[in-house]
Amino acid sequence: MLEGINVLLGVTGGIAIYKACDIVSGLKKVNANVDVIMTESATKMIRPGTFQALSQNAVITDTFETPRYWNIEHVSLAQKAHVLLVAPATANIIGKVANGIADDMLSTTIMASTAKVVFAPAMNTKMYENRIVQQNIKKLISLGYRFIEPASGRLACGDVGTGKLADVDKILEFVIDTVKPNRDFVGIKILVTAGPTRESIDPVRFISNHSTGKMGYSIADAASARGAEVILISGPTNLLPPVGVKLIKINTALEMYDMVMNNFKEQNVIIKSAAVADYRPETISARKIKKRGDNLNLTLVRNPDILSELGKLKENRILVGFAAESDNIIKNAKNKILKKNLDFIVANDITEEGAGFGTDTNIVTIIDRNNKIEKIEKTDKMDIAHLILDKVKQITEHRV
Ligand code: PMT
Repeated sequence: MLEGINVLLGVTGGIAIYKACDIVSGLKKVNANVDVIMTESATKMIRPGTFQALSQNAVITDTFETPRYWNIEHVSLAQKAHVLLVAPATANIIGKVANGIADDMLSTTIMASTAKVVFAPAMNTKMYENRIVQQNIKKLISLGYRFIEPASGRLACGDVGTGKLADVDKILEFVIDTVKPNRDFVGIKILVTAGPTRESIDPVRFISNHSTGKMGYSIADAASARGAEVILISGPTNLLPPVGVKLIKINTALEMYDMVMNNFKEQNVIIKSAAVADYRPETISARKIKKRGDNLNLTLVRNPDILSELGKLKENRILVGFAAESDNIIKNAKNKILKKNLDFIVANDITEEGAGFGTDTNIVTIIDRNNKIEKIEKTDKMDIAHLILDKVKQITEHRV
């Protein structure tokens, strides 16, 4: 599949380095040519010979070795590469590249390369969340470098959180997609909503839900990668905006309603994966509400149902809803298709392990207007995003 494609893998010294071996094997299986550059710290964790055997190419470790080829190595490798993947990418290499530092073979090669550069970060959660690291990542994304979001879970240091190297399969798919992108959504405008809404009670408190935006951001990312022009309307999340996507940030359901209504007319497809609060406090106290008595009664009023409103205005647009359910999944989801005039709905049972809020994976059932039901077993939210887009594509093709 990647015949004739040169992948340059930069390996840095993170504990996830052992997975870089699987990445090389995976790339070789799809017939890519793989060259490996290891940083000095990486060579202290795994010997270059391992990567040499797996890649069947000489491994480059530093700039001061006798050149193996007649031309300058960091320039020749940089020129030869179709894609430069850094996996695992430590905070150090991200910081160096973001700040124009080129002081070893890997950073020099990245600097000399015009190939697409993809970082797969892996580090301790606190490091990953450090504002300096996040700023460096944002800066690189704004310059066109691509990042594969790390997974969350238990890390080697014992901490639980975000920072695990993304799944090897996900990294391989990302690389394949980077060099051989499927551009079947070129010319299509898609609006995606993601994340939670926040409904203020007073200046301190709000009503919200557990949505992290992962599902919606994956859809926006996948659609943009496939060539769509994407607007992402998002409640508060900690996620990086996907490359090439226009991000509109909102807090409340009413703000989301306004932004969706301002933008929906030009869209061909609208996918509503946001978890919108159905109710908001009737009044927002201007001052912090003080403790008084044992009970506090709040009066909540209905928020507009954005998806239902879109259903009325839909015309020939494709409208996709989500259903976060804990009981009678199929029955409730089917009702929503009719009530909200959807083309199809993506139902997730939020009580299932690995599904719904906050997880990197989801388990969904896609139900369309003709009652066709497709169950998708537990898989990464990015895979689900592509399957949703495939379904959108099928519907568009049937209409032509
Ligand atoms: O963000 P993650 O952590 O990755 O979690 C993903 C998710 C669980 C949030 C996502 O997979 C999901 O299920 N999103 C929809 C959540 C939801 O609000 O479901 P619902 O059944 O309450 O709403 C049905 C549909 O109506 C949704 O498309 C929703 O966006 C829309 N809606 C709901 C209420 C409202 N006032 N306006 C709306 O448009």
